[in-house]
Amino acid sequence: MAFNFLKRIKKSSPPENPKGASAIVQNLSTQPQEALQDSTNKPEIVDPVAAIATQNMDLLDVIAPRKVEIDFDYLQIDGVYLRTLFISGYPRFVSPGWLEQIINFNSSLDVSFFIYPIEGKSVLDDLMRKVAEMEAEISTDLERGKIVDPATTAKLEDARLLQEELVKGAEHFYEFGFYITVRAADLEQLNHISKQVESTLGSTLIKAQHTTLDMENGFLSTAPFGLDRLSITRNMDTTSLATTFPLTSAELSGDKGVLYGINTQNGSFIIFDRFSLENSNMTIFATSGAGKSYFVKLESVRSLMLGTEVIVIDPEGEYKALAEAVGGQHISFSFSSPSKINPFDLAQVYEPGENNLGLKILSLHSLFKVIMGAITPLQDALLDRAIVATYRSKGITQDPITQTKEAPLMEDLYKILIGMETPEALDLAARIEKFVRGSFVGIFDKQTNIEIENPFTVFSIRELQDALRPIAMFVILDFIWTRIRKDLKPRLMVVDEAWHMMRYEDSAQFLWSIVKRARKYYLGLTTITQDVEDFLAQDIGKAIVTNSALRVLFKQSPAAIDRVGEVFYLSQGERNLLLGANIGEGIFFAGTNHAPISVVASAEEHKLITTKPSELLQQAQQLTSFTNAVSPGETARVITKETQ
Ligand SMILES: Nc1ncnc2c1ncn2[C@@H]1O[C@H](COP(=O)(O)OP(=O)(O)O)[C@@H](O)[C@H]1O
Ligand SMILES: [Mg+2]
Repeated sequence: MAFNFLKRIKKSSPPENPKGASAIVQNLSTQPQEALQDSTNKPEIVDPVAAIATQNMDLLDVIAPRKVEIDFDYLQIDGVYLRTLFISGYPRFVSPGWLEQIINFNSSLDVSFFIYPIEGKSVLDDLMRKVAEMEAEISTDLERGKIVDPATTAKLEDARLLQEELVKGAEHFYEFGFYITVRAADLEQLNHISKQVESTLGSTLIKAQHTTLDMENGFLSTAPFGLDRLSITRNMDTTSLATTFPLTSAELSGDKGVLYGINTQNGSFIIFDRFSLENSNMTIFATSGAGKSYFVKLESVRSLMLGTEVIVIDPEGEYKALAEAVGGQHISFSFSSPSKINPFDLAQVYEPGENNLGLKILSLHSLFKVIMGAITPLQDALLDRAIVATYRSKGITQDPITQTKEAPLMEDLYKILIGMETPEALDLAARIEKFVRGSFVGIFDKQTNIEIENPFTVFSIRELQDALRPIAMFVILDFIWTRIRKDLKPRLMVVDEAWHMMRYEDSAQFLWSIVKRARKYYLGLTTITQDVEDFLAQDIGKAIVTNSALRVLFKQSPAAIDRVGEVFYLSQGERNLLLGANIGEGIFFAGTNHAPISVVASAEEHKLITTKPSELLQQAQQLTSFTNAVSPGETARVITKETQ
């Protein structure tokens, strides 16, 4: 953005003082002499009501500082040192948000801007004169055979451009005053901070100067009175003025929602309501141990408090302590556990225009392709026919009335395939035999006997072997999906270690189909992945990212950073941040905004969600020493009984 080059026009008169302000100014200079002496004492706090009632003071006396010392180069009010700086020089180009460094400055500053619209006519006259002057300067230089000053040529170019914009009405003209007051506890610190501010501004070629000999007016100009006592302004056109807008760091603080963490750039809270975005899905990527599950557990407990239900598919069995603490339901899947899900279970929900059985057959088809591995097109067709026949054998057809009947089981499909008697069908039957009579019996071959009845439900598949995990995740996800469509309420569904599902084309497709349709059912799907490269290498992986309004990145490995950078459009600085991030630190994306985040938990929350072995051991030890401390009496009694 270009700043115009015109010299400032001295304002004819400063704006009127508001009444209160002038009274305060008076107050500043009319403090009693004794008060000025005891500079070491802390200002005494006066109870305003008592002071007015008993000491015959008026309100301004009570509010006013006890002493004000006005020096050449600083001001001292009740022992606080203040210094005002004004901006005297701007560069030709600045980028939008150049003020950010000052807004996020590491110590407190009072910053004020004064913007005075001015009439285009007078500026145009001025410009015309300036242009003429510069043209004259250039032609004299040329006549005398001197080299033309490049600065003048640049200025002339700017002036002509501006002239054109002003005439067209595309730009308006303003005077802009910019003052900063620095405060500190002592003079040394004040000098130090002023230097820092000056050099911070200096790094963008902005020149700041002390309001030497005019500190009082400087102070008043930055106090919230709307009073420009300095009147040191600079002309700016609309575009240049727009770059002074101070709030460019993404503010992700909503007034509703849960706390996700702290914006490390400006220390603000990142508070967000997932359901207020265009979709409520979230993807989380990071290396192992970077704090992904921790973050999601925190979000889960905090969302529960707001009445959002949470359902988790947990391959590591790490949500159990949390589920127990919040009175949730923890369903563990293994060969011996009593909990069963029948993949053939129907939704029991009839929606006009939606073919329930058809959708179920589609998802079963995908599931069996994951179970069976690669099959020929002929087998594909056979499988389809066999699934339809399996339902028909239980009297279930496209007619919604028949769909409330008891669903078939895996064994029924097995029998149908055997009954088809072709080698291709027998081959298919052989591939699911494990589930019906082989080593995988006991998981998916019985009628469903569980329900989601708790606001916090965890499905743990830790006991299952690796090869079964994608299948189990598929079946559970399908089960949850059919159940949540029955009654609508705000829900989060977490798929931890979602890369298990991305290992197979068909389960990946299924995950994607849920991501796409989640919004319609008031559902926010969270996918957590450590295998970033693999996930993003697939089109479906990328599509899932694009369809997630919330995205979180924690620490990344050097191997994955390029791909992540590409998909998330990260700057070099952001890439470095992610490569060197500590646990729980990363970047939070919400819609088009993003901000660096640090995830923090309270001590109570941390206890429930940490999985660090050393901390778990310590907790267990504390528990045993607690039980030991309680039981000695008991043991003692038993011993005395025996010895009697
Ligand atoms: N924001 C955080 N603050 C404090 N400790 C954390 C934070 N994030 C993670 N941790 C610690 O690191 C451990 C591993 O984090 P976890 O979320 O399980 O990693 P992963 O990314 O593999 O899911 C946690 O059990 C916890 O002890
Ligand atoms: Mg994890």
